[in-house]
Amino acid sequence: MVSIRKASTTDIPAMSRLLTASITSLCTEDHGNDPDRLRRWTQNKSEEGVGKMMDNPALTVWVAEVSSEIAAVGAATGDSIVLNYVAPEYRFQGVSKALLATLEDSLRNAGISLGKLVSTRTALRFYLASGWSELGSGAGGIQMQKVL
Ligand SMILES: CC(C)(COP(=O)(O)OP(=O)(O)OC[C@H]1O[C@@H](n2cnc3c(N)ncnc32)[C@H](O)[C@@H]1OP(=O)(O)O)[C@@H](O)C(=O)NCCC(=O)NCCS
Repeated sequence: MVSIRKASTTDIPAMSRLLTASITSLCTEDHGNDPDRLRRWTQNKSEEGVGKMMDNPALTVWVAEVSSEIAAVGAATGDSIVLNYVAPEYRFQGVSKALLATLEDSLRNAGISLGKLVSTRTALRFYLASGWSELGSGAGGIQMQKVL
């Protein structure tokens, strides 16, 4: 069973490891195993980088747990979902679906009626299946939105 809660500072090392592993192992369609792209993408996922994220009062960071182990990390700010990564060993077990539902609820509860995110190519199918639509592509990824 997946349970979702707000992240705490004690989760920083686990979140840093998960984010780095998820990007490295799952997002190959996006970074193509190019060492420079991979380094640029993961450099702010260090414990220091994740610590800065946790210090940002505008950002709400969530973790999804399975059997008390962190299986995914997500974050939202303003009208946008800005982070949504699953641990490779928990892929395709419904963890991101559950986390995405919580992230969407958090936007709704903040009064947002049109959610935004930038998807990887890796996750595009997942978001399309979750009711998000494609707006266009830029250097940072695929811009998407959903009426919440
Ligand atoms: C694609 C990804 C986000 C899905 O998360 P997950 O926790 O593995 O997926 P879930 O089990 O919650 O949801 C499965 C859904 O993903 C979709 N999906 C299935 N296979 C897929 C594939 N090969 N690629 C993309 N999406 C797929 C389907 O809609 C599936 O729903 P279904 O089981 O009802 O058919 C995740 O596997 C992933 O690769 N994350 C990498 C990090 C990333 O790119 N994050 C997004 C940053 S914006």
